[in-house]
Amino acid sequence: MIIAKKIIEKYIAFFEKRGHKQIPNAPLVPENDPTTLFTNSGMQPLVPYLLGEKHPQGKKLVNVQNCFRAQDIDEIGDNRHTTFFRMLGNWSLGGYFKKEQLSWFFEFLIKELNLPLEKLYVSVFQGYNDIYKDTESENIWQELFINAGINPKNHIFFYGASKNWWSRAGAPENMPAGEPGGPDSEVFFDFETPHNPKFGKTCHINCDCGRYLEIGNSVFMQYQKQESGSFKELPQKNVDFGGGLERLLAACENKQDVFQTSLFYPIIKTIETQTAKEYEKSPKEIRVIADHLIASCFMISNGVTPSNTEQGYILRRLLRRAFDNFDLLDGKNIYTIIETIAQQYKETDPVLENKYEKIRYAITEEEQVYRKTLQRAKAYIVKQYSQQGDELIGVKVISAEAAFVLYSTHGLSPSQIKSLGFTFNDQEFAKKMEEHQALSRSGAAQKFAGGLADHSEKTIMGHTATHLLHQAIRDILGNHVHQTGSNITTKRLRFDFNYDKKLSDTEIQKIEQTVNQKIKLDLPVHFEMIPLEQAKKIGAIGLFDEKYQDQVKVYFVGNYSKEFCGGPHVKHTGVIKNFTIIKQENIGHGQRRIYAVVG
Ligand code: SER
Repeated sequence: MIIAKKIIEKYIAFFEKRGHKQIPNAPLVPENDPTTLFTNSGMQPLVPYLLGEKHPQGKKLVNVQNCFRAQDIDEIGDNRHTTFFRMLGNWSLGGYFKKEQLSWFFEFLIKELNLPLEKLYVSVFQGYNDIYKDTESENIWQELFINAGINPKNHIFFYGASKNWWSRAGAPENMPAGEPGGPDSEVFFDFETPHNPKFGKTCHINCDCGRYLEIGNSVFMQYQKQESGSFKELPQKNVDFGGGLERLLAACENKQDVFQTSLFYPIIKTIETQTAKEYEKSPKEIRVIADHLIASCFMISNGVTPSNTEQGYILRRLLRRAFDNFDLLDGKNIYTIIETIAQQYKETDPVLENKYEKIRYAITEEEQVYRKTLQRAKAYIVKQYSQQGDELIGVKVISAEAAFVLYSTHGLSPSQIKSLGFTFNDQEFAKKMEEHQALSRSGAAQKFAGGLADHSEKTIMGHTATHLLHQAIRDILGNHVHQTGSNITTKRLRFDFNYDKKLSDTEIQKIEQTVNQKIKLDLPVHFEMIPLEQAKKIGAIGLFDEKYQDQVKVYFVGNYSKEFCGGPHVKHTGVIKNFTIIKQENIGHGQRRIYAVVG
């Protein structure tokens, strides 16, 4: 058995023994949540419950959540970052708090995983404005270390909000109003490797030299940011614990490099074979190939296809970076690596094996598109330089401007442009890149704030309308049609579905009329937790994922629509008032997209 699986089993059993109920892994692409492209932490699907909504399975929960962090793409290549990872999580929704959490996690590490006590270090929150220093956690840790026979003096360290505060938006000042967050306490594992002075004069547990690895984070989610910028205590004190499975595995196997653990190493070995290069000599490229292909496999198995927008764009970026690095190492067959990935994950995530053909097809298609892009990029350069009267033959140096167009329009990375045989002024290119990144950062910030500022009625109305739309589409186009994606903001809702023809005006009208008729009927909306088998029997629409558990949450809109969903929804359809389809488009891969407005 792969050790990663053992860690998962021990963790779930440990917390179940302590009264926790296991909840399923939520989809990697959040459903009806416009605030983020991917589920990036275990907390993501639990936000309504952290803010006070009653969870149908109680106050103590445990889970393993597949996560993807797009913001870490550029970090990949070091010994510990991965864009895709599994997060072990345990949750208290107004149940237990610091004492139980810290003691349990400590016990799990030393009794269940048998990690050597003297290699564990912890960090505690130092305080921020009017939020006090966390001496309570300090006292708990002191007692735990002393009782285990260790002098706590050199094992507990205080850090400020940049390190020991957690919210989805990061530090307190970056949080939009309404967002929950709180101080946290992290545990680190010491690999006892020599300090690398490149990362600072002295080493410390948060140092980036790689000696210490963070293996778990207990967030005391007890505050909510207010419009005024201050913090209010939430009605309940929550615990949000997250531990990266890949990092816990690295600690258990005492591998400072997560890519050398039993989970990743067979994948690394396959890359070595396919490129005839040694990992020791090209660690960065090989790690990028491994990480990006793993993340791509999970995305594709979650229904994402490469494109130029949103999730599809991130997938495209990952795949192209993987192709680039594979080419750089003169790689032969990339699909053998995909096969090894599916093998390595099959015990915990059989979906990769089950959807292998689909994954392979999507990657092959993207590879072809990419090769064509490269040809077009070359043609662009020829055009640019022949227009200027230059001979292309012999052109080696192109302007940073031309290089940036290749990056922003054709999606080529600087290294890919160079591998085509061209050079340019790196500094000028970097300057252009900085301007571009500043623009997209402000765009992303706006998107984040916009989405969250708004757990508003309008978004919730859009969400319920989406369920009506889903059912109406099936009534009119056939039951083989189902949702493949959705995104809702205050301004509009967007709905993707598998259908490979343009909808006629009559079909659009019929769909609109059906939804509006259900709105007029003012149907009541409610949810029930029901057994999976029963949900299937009554024809509830949903992703019958193998990880769904016995009980599923099904939303009913009158008797008309029944759909697996986390909520929230309006109480009666009448409040939606009106539904209008404003646009339809073809998004490729046999899918169509509809935009609509409500209200
Ligand atoms: N939310 C915290 C994290 O993602 C702990 O689960 O690190």
